[in-house]
Amino acid sequence: MMMDFKVELNSRLELVENRLHELLEPRMPEIIYEAMGYSVFAGGKRLRPILVMAACSACGGDESEALDFACALEMIHTYSLIHDDLPALDNDDYRRGKLTNHKQFGDGIALLAGDGLLTLAFETMLKAAVERGEQRFTRAAETIARLSGSQGMLVGQVVDVVSEGKQIDSSMLDYIHNNKTGGLIKAALIAGGYIGGADEATLSLLEVIGADMGLAFQIKDDILDVTSTTEVLGKPVFSDEKNHKVTYVSMYGMDKAQSDYELLSKRAVDNIICLGDRASFLAEYAKRLINRIK
Ligand code: IPE
Ligand code: IPE
Ligand code: MG
Ligand code: MG
Ligand code: MG
Repeated sequence: MMMDFKVELNSRLELVENRLHELLEPRMPEIIYEAMGYSVFAGGKRLRPILVMAACSACGGDESEALDFACALEMIHTYSLIHDDLPALDNDDYRRGKLTNHKQFGDGIALLAGDGLLTLAFETMLKAAVERGEQRFTRAAETIARLSGSQGMLVGQVVDVVSEGKQIDSSMLDYIHNNKTGGLIKAALIAGGYIGGADEATLSLLEVIGADMGLAFQIKDDILDVTSTTEVLGKPVFSDEKNHKVTYVSMYGMDKAQSDYELLSKRAVDNIICLGDRASFLAEYAKRLINRIK
């Protein structure tokens, strides 16, 4: 089982890596493709693309049809990291074990590299949707757009940044976490579900799973910000404290953060198991995330 899982994971990671290299092949002007590739190929975990592919097969679909959507989501995620690190937002110097994009290329190119990744993601999804000409692909693209923007990552980041240095209540913190991080994780599962041909009930369950996984993922990110090291994370620790952010740990304390994290993660795994045998890779992946150290 364990061996099979690693083989399956590595084959998906390789597919994603190879396709990202094709999609980001250098063009003119060189500097922008260099800056985009710098952050995309700096060594992220590829959580979101793996979830797109795994959700697709959990619903009985053909994962090769989900690959471009998986890569597009990783581009959107990477753009969100480049912009999140900018001096006007979290002002961090390291990401994925390297200097942040703006430290390497300057603020202007970093802004544009983010814009470049966001627009290339849409170009990639729309091209795939147009070529395939079926509604499940346009639905996947619409879901990724919505949960990256007006109902997800963007609005979460907005409330996160305007709340810096303020006392916010628990429902506001939930709003921030559910959107800034939950958005793209829900998008991954639902988009994979659409491409895999999921019915309405399955799509709703995927949304519930994504919400739990997303909140859990950000709680763990907040925990790691105060318990890990820059070497392990590849990004600075104590970034939240520096920016006077309310986090799950500062609001509830470490014990409750840890126990809520475990509860949400386990509930997500139990719901994935409800999807049946085809979801065994997804279930194992989600289970292993619980013990993640980075
Ligand atoms: C970091 O995401 C930002 C959050 C939403 C917490 P990841 O922890 O998935 O970062 P990478 O992709 O592995 O660098
Ligand atoms: C940001 O949350 C999540 C994004 C949408 C980029 P954080 O600001 O806590 O993410 P890290 O810790 O810098 O990766
Ligand atoms: Mg941030
Ligand atoms: Mg940050
Ligand atoms: Mg963080």
